Amino acid sequence: MSGIPRIKVNHHHTFYYQYEFSLLDALEVQEIPAQYNCRGGYCGICKVRLIDGEVEDVQDILVDLADDEILACSCRPKGHIEIELPD
Ligand code: FES
Repeated sequence: MSGIPRIKVNHHHTFYYQYEFSLLDALEVQEIPAQYNCRGGYCGICKVRLIDGEVEDVQDILVDLADDEILACSCRPKGHIEIELPD
């Protein structure tokens, strides 16, 4: 995969990943409201649905996740991704 990862959120908002530490940090830079609490991979509040693409972990994940769920505080995109934030 080459190029800067593109992140699409809730089917309409698209931006480019600027190599922040985590997906959560990237959302915050874009001023996209994302829920968080611990930022350490153990509370689960930052769960989002990964619709397309792949992410890689940047820290240990200590909560159970469904197959299509990721923790925004604990991963970063490996390439273009599409996610859906909870309501
Ligand atoms: S903010 Fe707690 S797991 Fe991400």
